[in-house]
Formats: sequence, structure tokens, C-alpha cells
Amino acid sequence: MWTCPDIVDFFLMSTKVLIIGACGQIGTELTAALQTTYGALNVIASDIRKSDNDVFADSPFEILDATNKEQIRACIEKHQITDVYLMAALLSAKAEKNPEFAWELNMNSLLYVLDFAKDKLIEKVFWPSSIAVFGKNSPKVQTPQHTIMDPSTVYGISKLSGERWCEYYHKNHGVDVRSVRYPGIISWKARPGGGTTDYAVEIFHEALEKGSYTCFLKEDTALPMMFMDDAVRATISIMNAESSAIKIRSSYNISATSFTPKELTSEIQKLLPDFTIEYAPDFRQQIADSWPESIDDTDAANDWNWSAHFDTKAIVAEMIENLR
Ligand code: SER
Repeated sequence: MWTCPDIVDFFLMSTKVLIIGACGQIGTELTAALQTTYGALNVIASDIRKSDNDVFADSPFEILDATNKEQIRACIEKHQITDVYLMAALLSAKAEKNPEFAWELNMNSLLYVLDFAKDKLIEKVFWPSSIAVFGKNSPKVQTPQHTIMDPSTVYGISKLSGERWCEYYHKNHGVDVRSVRYPGIISWKARPGGGTTDYAVEIFHEALEKGSYTCFLKEDTALPMMFMDDAVRATISIMNAESSAIKIRSSYNISATSFTPKELTSEIQKLLPDFTIEYAPDFRQQIADSWPESIDDTDAANDWNWSAHFDTKAIVAEMIENLR
């Protein structure tokens, strides 16, 4: 006899996930969480090269170039994928150094995956956007969901364009695409690469290895930040929400905490009193100056019950305990 749990189990079992860009900072931990939800054999991890993180020992792994539409199609067909998590992207700082490739990777990969969903090759898409969609003319504090955008980085332009495409494919082709605007993500399992918020991860490694850190942002630069566990939980919960609950099909603001390098330093010094910091701002300062200081995530809270668990103090405690 069919009971509710049987139906839930059936849907979980019939879900087959492909993560594109699985070896990155977020992809690595998202892969582990999805393995727990769907079973390791139902999670196909893929990236341009394989990392040696243990998480990839348990799941099938495919070498996949996110700019190659036919490679993605072949992988989806081979594994009968239902849900794609498209995590491959060039982040803000790296994208400024290589704008053409950033545009190609960040934009084309999304359009390919949206096309596969439009053609019913897959059922559901997760694609991350970023606080980088906002710019100098956006309100800086508690930046609202809907406001002036004006991104000034290649990365931000690609993310805002991506958001518009997501909404367009949902409205015009019924594509079930879901997205959140990640703030800076702080984690200890895999390092970030090429972002402006990366200082908030580097600082912990150097505090423990060297006792000091030279920060590439000024001491009073406030940015929205989030612990990885919250970021992964947001990702999986928006994907598991009822489709009718997802009222925003561009991308949702999500928020956890916000701090400056100086505030982060004083939290770290509570646990590592000898830690010292110096400041040597570089080109990333200008990027950070164009982004919000904090984010209003009321829509995500109302529509799919989003709320963060980790504040700055809890993040610092987790980072130091785990990196030690
Ligand atoms: N963490 C990203 C970056 O710094 C923002 O989404 O580029």
C-alpha cells in the first residue's frame, strides 16, 4: 500500500543529481550533503579536473567542461539526470582578470542547462547568483530584494544577466529553476578561489599557521557573509521546497551575518589573543566598495522558511576548531 513516506522515498530515489563544478569551495560540501540526501550513487559529481577530497571517492565522477554543451548533454543522458546544480563560475576577482572567459563560462553554461530543462532533458535546476548583482547605486544597508542593481564587475554583470535568463526561462518555458544570491561563504573543507570575500577564509588559515595576516581589504569594509553549513542548507531547502512556494524565479536574497575585517579580527583574537593583522588593500577594495554591507532576506524567509543558524561568533569558533 502507498503511504506518504513511500511516495517521499520514491521521489528521493528517482532523483538523480549532477553537480557541475563539484570540486569548488561550495560544490565540495554540497556534493557531500546531496550524497546524504539522495544516496552516493544518485549523485554525479563533475568538474574540469578531479580534486582528491574524500567526498569524491564515494560518488560517480565525470570530467566535464562547463563550456561544452555536448559534453554536458552526454553526461545528463548517460546518467539520466533529473536535477542539475550548476556551481561552475569564475568569481569576482578572477573574472576582472579574464573578462571574456568569465562571460563565456558564467553565461553559456547557464544557457545550456536552461535549454536542457526547456527541452525536458532535466526537471530542475539550481544556479547560484551573488551579492555581486548589486552596485554602487543600490542601498548599502539591508539591501532589499528588489532595488537598483547596477553591478560594476564582470562577475556581477554575468550574475545579473543570469538571473534575468532564469526568470525568462521560467516564465516563457516553464523551467523549474531556483536560485539564491550567496554572500561571502566561509568554510574550512575546501578553499575558495578568486573571490573578493576570500580574505574571510584566508585569515583563519594564516592566523593558525603564522599568527598574522595581511588583508587585501581595508579594515572598515563591511560585507555580508555566511557559514558553509547555512549556504548548503539554503541550497537544498530551496530545491526541496514546493514549486508553488518559489515566487521569485530570478534569485533570492539570503543573509546570515555581516562584518568588517577589523570586527572579524577582534572575534578571532578572543580565541587567539596573539593574532595580528595588517592592511594592504589592492584592486579588490574597489569591488568590495561596490557591494552591499548587509542584505534583507525577508522574501526567502516568507516564501520557503529560510533562516541562518551561524552568526559571526559561531563561525569563528567553528573555523578555528576545525582548522586546528
Ligand atoms: N564570494 C564571491 C566573490 O567574492 C561573491 O559572490 O566573488
